[in-house]
Amino acid sequence: MRTSMFRSVESAIRRVSTSSPSTSTSSTHFARRCFSSESAPAPARKVAVLGAAGGIGQPLALLMKLNPLVSSLSLYDIAGTPGVAADVSHINTRSEVAGYMGEDQLAQALDGCDLVIIPAGVPRKPGMTRDDLFNINAGIVKTLCTAIAKYCPHALVNMISNPVNSTVPIAAEIFKKAGTYDEKRLFGVTTLDVVRARTFFAGKANVNVADVNVPVVGGHAGITILPLFSQATPKGSNLSDEQITALTKRTQDGGTEVVEAKAGKGSATLSMAYAGAVFADACLKGLNGVPDIVECSYVQSNITDIPFFASKVRLGKNGVEEILGLGPMSDFEKEGLEKLKPELLSSIEKGVKFANQ
Ligand SMILES: NC(=O)c1ccc[n+]([C@@H]2O[C@H](COP(=O)([O-])OP(=O)(O)OC[C@H]3O[C@@H](n4cnc5c(N)ncnc54)[C@H](O)[C@@H]3O)[C@@H](O)[C@H]2O)c1
Repeated sequence: MRTSMFRSVESAIRRVSTSSPSTSTSSTHFARRCFSSESAPAPARKVAVLGAAGGIGQPLALLMKLNPLVSSLSLYDIAGTPGVAADVSHINTRSEVAGYMGEDQLAQALDGCDLVIIPAGVPRKPGMTRDDLFNINAGIVKTLCTAIAKYCPHALVNMISNPVNSTVPIAAEIFKKAGTYDEKRLFGVTTLDVVRARTFFAGKANVNVADVNVPVVGGHAGITILPLFSQATPKGSNLSDEQITALTKRTQDGGTEVVEAKAGKGSATLSMAYAGAVFADACLKGLNGVPDIVECSYVQSNITDIPFFASKVRLGKNGVEEILGLGPMSDFEKEGLEKLKPELLSSIEKGVKFANQ
């Protein structure tokens, strides 16, 4: 029987989860599905979290355990996963949970996966940019993607490890070398930028946060994060140019806001786990053939002259079904787009170069 605390969490989630079209299609339904006792028949899906004992990995493991679309949950890390897996496995939801620790168990962790989520790596400390993480995280991503190519080459990959602007191109190069690359199956997770843009916009425009949609395009670092507030819905109170500039900056610096508040104890973990779980849920729904699942993601793209670019993406049975265009942009956003291109391109080139060394 459910406890009263569980019931109050469920009702809180229901209150904030009202359905709305477009980019929130999956996010607004996600929490409701997770905390729902309805048992919709869903195909078996194995999901792995690599880096599952970390700050993001643990709450992400919890949220994936609550997702009824998951039948098998594989928790991998270089340390600590037996404990996390034993703990999460006691939750009375559909998925079987297994913990794997150390590289000699990576093959088993990945075998038969439909979806692999990667939050493995080191997070930022105050004063660091995401790019400062490159040297350590690039190597981790290279190792993990080499194993994915070998043991579950058809899985969708959700890359959370920073710098996402470079780790996604690294993964693409590793998969190309292994002969398994399918650009429809590789995603940089930029959902946290969308989550932040929605929250910050709702606060300023005086609208219900659960109804807000804001596409966020470009990449996932500093000025490469470009929220398109001119397309935000519902419109709410009219915002001045100064307010839009401030909202844009706050969205771009959202990660740094958390890094500074945590004062050396890491970067966003709880909101990132939520965002990662929302995006993973959207991918699973797409795989299961649910129509009209649209989320923003950083993918191989030709909607601009930059080879990897975040924008709204329609998800389907094979991963990316359609990359949606940028839509009408304000002059401020057009300017932001031109400004971000050199940095984004250089991060992509850095990743490609690293992978081919
Ligand atoms: N995409 C985003 O929006 C976003 C947001 C926040 C953080 N991040 C990134 O996510 C990553 C993880 O952040 P965190 O706060 O969870 O860090 P953390 O240090 O708390 O956890 C990382 C985990 O990865 C594990 N790990 C290290 N090497 C590994 C390997 N080779 N294989 C498997 N696991 C390995 C560690 O043991 C640890 O448990 C960082 O790169 C961070 O910058 C991304």
